[in-house]
Amino acid sequence: MKAMTYAQYGGTEVLELTQRPTPKVAPGAVLIRVKAAGVNPVDWKIMSGALDGLMDVNFPVTPGWDVAGVVEAVGFDTPDFKVGDEVYSYGRRDTIQGGTFAELVALPAAIVAHKPATLSWEQAAALPLTGLTAQRTLDALAVTAGQTLLIHNGSGSVGRTGIQLAVHAGVRVIATGSVRNHERLRELGAEPVEYGPGLVERVRALAPDGVDAVADFIGDVVDDTLALLKADGRHASIADWTVLSHGGQYIWVRPSAEELERLSLLVEDGTLSVDVAQTFPLQEAAKAFEASMSGHGAGKIVLTEFTA
Ligand SMILES: NC(=O)c1ccc[n+]([C@@H]2O[C@H](COP(=O)([O-])OP(=O)(O)OC[C@H]3O[C@@H](n4cnc5c(N)ncnc54)[C@H](OP(=O)(O)O)[C@@H]3O)[C@@H](O)[C@H]2O)c1
Repeated sequence: MKAMTYAQYGGTEVLELTQRPTPKVAPGAVLIRVKAAGVNPVDWKIMSGALDGLMDVNFPVTPGWDVAGVVEAVGFDTPDFKVGDEVYSYGRRDTIQGGTFAELVALPAAIVAHKPATLSWEQAAALPLTGLTAQRTLDALAVTAGQTLLIHNGSGSVGRTGIQLAVHAGVRVIATGSVRNHERLRELGAEPVEYGPGLVERVRALAPDGVDAVADFIGDVVDDTLALLKADGRHASIADWTVLSHGGQYIWVRPSAEELERLSLLVEDGTLSVDVAQTFPLQEAAKAFEASMSGHGAGKIVLTEFTA
């Protein structure tokens, strides 16, 4: 099968389109024909070697953890799915090797969910990793109706979902983003503020008594977080583990079909929308990574065109 791979750590120059063996389908697993694969910053961070201390890697690596596609085969004793089912997944494995930037990917059924019919392939591939991250962060913060939540990086892919989940729970959300994204933040139900110097004063103008909780979806903002948090407030980060030494929680998203199905329900009842900003064909994965690396894209990047 065709797959985007890299045989060593590096920048986008190490990516190449190659032929790889069709993955075997273990008992309890499904083989998915990929229709779309979401691009996440973690994909190119792994490629750079930045996570080498955390996870084992077997080269050549096929990057990618998010996928939407059609079940091509099921392993022994996998009654949860049948051939032809439309599915999606945050398909992270414990060892980095066989990712979703390929024509086919095999994943354990326990981390695969049925795709909401209302989502396109691209939208379905855009949701799992970022949606599960936002959901896990909000669960950890236990923020409740009537409370005020500050989201650092409301305009990124995690932030957009986080805003919607919190607003749905009746939470008042103040979200940072650059001015060009403020209208979208408002549409999602947040009060936008510009990030950067003076952030504490801008948030205090909206919430003079401080905020009940802070979700950091960008990193390097712990001083602002602590300056704005009420005395009994809670904070969590997905991008800065130093929050652990400041009473915060460090969140690392987990693959789970059950948790993904919670998001599916919110998609199906119209609560949760999914933005896709840019798509690239599989063979242009390097361009997709470069767009993600810019750090200021207008939303989610997704790979398509997996078959020749
Ligand atoms: N721990 C985990 O489990 C986990 C899971 C998912 C992601 N992450 C990490 O979380 C971060 C965000 O992920 P993502 O997928 O949401 O990224 P993303 O979609 O690529 O985020 C892009 C957005 O970041 C915004 N941004 C850039 N600099 C900012 C700043 N200083 N303050 C506020 N916003 C800023 C930009 O907004 P403007 O365009 O408005 O400038 C841009 O829209 C990444 O570092 C990622 O690796 C961690």
